[in-house]
Amino acid sequence: MNLYDRIPNNVNLSEDKKLLRALEKWLPNYLDWWREMGPEGFQDKEVWLRTAVDVGSEGWAHFDYVKMPDYRWGIFLQPAQADAKVGFGDNFGRPAYQEVPGEFRNSLRRIIVTQGDTEPASVEQQRQLGSTCPSLYDLRNLFQVNIEEGRHLWAMVYLLHGYFGRDGRDEADALLERRSGNPDKPRILEAFNQPCDDWLNFFAFTMFTDRDGKFQLSALAESGFEPLARTCQFMLTEEAHHMFVGDTGLGRVVRRTAQLMKEGNARELGGIPLDIIQKYINFWFSYSLDLFGGEISSNSADFFAAGLKGRYKEQEQYKDHLAANDSFTLLVVEDGQLKPREVPLRNALNEVLRGEYVKDCEKGLARWNKILAEEGLTDRLNLPSPRFHRHVGEYAGHDFDLMGNLITTEEFERRRSESLPTIKDREYVRSLMHSVTQPGKIANWIAPPATGVKGKPFEFEYVRL
Ligand SMILES: [Fe+2]
Ligand SMILES: [Fe+2]
Repeated sequence: MNLYDRIPNNVNLSEDKKLLRALEKWLPNYLDWWREMGPEGFQDKEVWLRTAVDVGSEGWAHFDYVKMPDYRWGIFLQPAQADAKVGFGDNFGRPAYQEVPGEFRNSLRRIIVTQGDTEPASVEQQRQLGSTCPSLYDLRNLFQVNIEEGRHLWAMVYLLHGYFGRDGRDEADALLERRSGNPDKPRILEAFNQPCDDWLNFFAFTMFTDRDGKFQLSALAESGFEPLARTCQFMLTEEAHHMFVGDTGLGRVVRRTAQLMKEGNARELGGIPLDIIQKYINFWFSYSLDLFGGEISSNSADFFAAGLKGRYKEQEQYKDHLAANDSFTLLVVEDGQLKPREVPLRNALNEVLRGEYVKDCEKGLARWNKILAEEGLTDRLNLPSPRFHRHVGEYAGHDFDLMGNLITTEEFERRRSESLPTIKDREYVRSLMHSVTQPGKIANWIAPPATGVKGKPFEFEYVRL
């Protein structure tokens, strides 16, 4: 591990002069981007951050005070496995690819660019949240997520520079040029152009949208293209914390709302009413479902066949790694009705991955509903149907209610304010957001966490202001 190199890495960068030079040229542009688009107003503050000092179980989570621009962004891959094999598809059992297979060069580059684009996008979406943090603990968590998304960009840029030559370098530059929500040069995926300007959005985003990342990275961690697999495996260790922030963050909002509801009207008492929380869930869940791509997809079949993108836990969960003869039945809209259609399993792998994601989200909902039950309330939160409010795939262009029944566009529009956040809802949530930065203090609309970070109490000075 060359931790104190200009670009910390465990990929022997100093021996690959060409790659090192390319990355060293990209580094100052990255830092310019971070200063321009990273967390606003906190760049010179010391933050209690987790930094990887090794990829082993001991070293990847080392905690200390760091100023964010001094964070050691770097390139860390899970160690290589001796004689790694392609784990699925038509080349199942052959030696893993150490170079990009020629015929998949363009599509693999597209996958890496699309994943890479989400990482800086989320930092841009969240850059102003620091000024309205509900506590120092939450402020630290926000910054931890932000710097790790920055590092994930490094991980993807390493692959682009290392394996895609000149077009890879151009793509790496473009990753620093697009901007979330900018109409002229937007980020690639729509969820990453949506505003994330209050903390309820932030928690819903890290719960639902980062969780899409978990499933995409898991599928790519199975890849027969070994550098990609090892990169994604290490990113997943960091990603778990982001989902923890979202899951427990929303849980703490739910708990506080429940406590206020027992005293009276949550809204009058300065909390976030459950129906607004539900609408934020509906919004981010549906946008995140789109990130998995079309239900029926020849790309997904090609990628699986080539051994490049597997299923979730391909090795653990499945015995048949060819998936060549099975089929999958899903509901599609035909003649204005929902009808079952059978497709070859390989063409439905986006939908299979989406199904795993939905199961994972349901566990989060169960945890929040347990909090409501513990507080003695009978109200419950739920996930909308995966057909609701979709912009990609079979259900885009049709309208569904929260239960997944086909409805007319007029009906959808009539009910929109009951199912998705309105401008008034957003304004109300924003009106609650005021910075609370005294150690041990917390905003009124959220409950404190059950424990602090890495053995420190909630009262710890997580950010030195
Ligand atoms: Fe990430
Ligand atoms: Fe993340």
